[in-house]
Amino acid sequence: MRAPSDSVDLSNLWMPFTANRQFKAHPRLLAGAQGMYYTTADGRRILDGTAGLWCVNAGHARPEIIEAITRQASHLDYAPSFQIGHEDSFRAASRIAALMPDGLDRIFFTNSGSESVDTALKIALAYHRARGEGQRTRLIGRERGYHGVGFGGISVGGISPNRKTFSGVLLPGVDHLPHTHAPEHNAWSRGQPAWGAHLADELERIIALHDASTIAAVIVEPLAGSTGVLVPPVGYLERLREITARHGILLIFDEVITAFGRLGAATASGRFGVTPDMITMAKGISNAAIPAGAVAVLRGIHDAILDASGSGIEFFHGYTYSAHPMATAAILAAQDIYEREGLFQRAEALSAPFEEAAHALRGRRHVIDVRNLGLVAGVELAPREGAPGARAAEVFARCFDRGVLVRYTGDTLAFSPPLVIDESQIAELFGTVAEVLDEID
Ligand SMILES: Cc1ncc(COP(=O)(O)O)c(C=O)c1O
Repeated sequence: MRAPSDSVDLSNLWMPFTANRQFKAHPRLLAGAQGMYYTTADGRRILDGTAGLWCVNAGHARPEIIEAITRQASHLDYAPSFQIGHEDSFRAASRIAALMPDGLDRIFFTNSGSESVDTALKIALAYHRARGEGQRTRLIGRERGYHGVGFGGISVGGISPNRKTFSGVLLPGVDHLPHTHAPEHNAWSRGQPAWGAHLADELERIIALHDASTIAAVIVEPLAGSTGVLVPPVGYLERLREITARHGILLIFDEVITAFGRLGAATASGRFGVTPDMITMAKGISNAAIPAGAVAVLRGIHDAILDASGSGIEFFHGYTYSAHPMATAAILAAQDIYEREGLFQRAEALSAPFEEAAHALRGRRHVIDVRNLGLVAGVELAPREGAPGARAAEVFARCFDRGVLVRYTGDTLAFSPPLVIDESQIAELFGTVAEVLDEID
């Protein structure tokens, strides 16, 4: 770990999704990470209750990943990804394809979740056009959905602060399903709420309004994370699948946070037994050691696009860093760890004690809902009058001061620890939150 420095100038960096002025007045600086813990610049240990940003699924600083990246950096630092390849990119694609539901075995590499989402939306449009249905251009997202920050992602996304500044230039022809959170019906759900499958039927209304022949794709997070953990009601995803299939509309699951074990299986699709036409992923794909993302595409979609094109490039899309050698090295090493250590199964095994610990917060001051699935939990707090978000922000800050990292969006605390967490750390995580809730107004 580097020595703490008083002299670092904070002024030049414009921090993403951050209250910059507040942060710079009271900075929180991390300097090291190992296993389940961060170390702050002033030398304190912080239990990572959020796997960084839902991404460090195997825990921090795994030597196998460090070694793979280091080896690759000295061996092949960079290879162009257009019209030329390197072996690890194909190995990594095969490795990811093997974890996807049957048929989703064509893999397009990106560098982030936002890029994966925009890539999937473009593939949907290209597919319909390749089949002579170029008029299918509408995209359907969902209220409260988060699909990153590209123009495609914020258009189908449903988080208003992310959209309003750009409202005049969002993609045309986008519509949104209603979100599934209705505390009067589904508060305190353990696992999938029993209430709410019928909300998927709203898609029929949207289709009737626009006509199926104009709609390219529906995109949802199978479990919505960034909006504050919304678990899909029993039967909801199945209904979306049935309706989209019946109308020739593609279904995209945005699995940027759910892929790679978060719900106790390789994918949420596998966990719920619902197979979409495309899956977007990032984060845990490389254990976040190197930025990486991907889209898994149904083979028939890929083939239709290739078959419809002449002899040249079939799909005019890609990134300088698609399948970057360091990313593919990190992907392969991370996947080795997940498999060798059975981390997806571990997440499944820990989901019961995790659920118990989360729901033990019921009855604490300010707590108005707890919801969970796999190694994800959301704890919703009553907002302070006139200051939405302030109470959860204070819990976050006080937990950090006591050595525990949690996340908050609005007044919901979100928990998504590395899958290597143990039961005593689960107790510490929720126990610290309980103490803090008792202290604050
Ligand atoms: C469901 C989902 N999609 C997309 C993204 C965007 O990913 P990135 O920040 O890597 O662009 C996120 C990030 O949290 C996400 O949760």
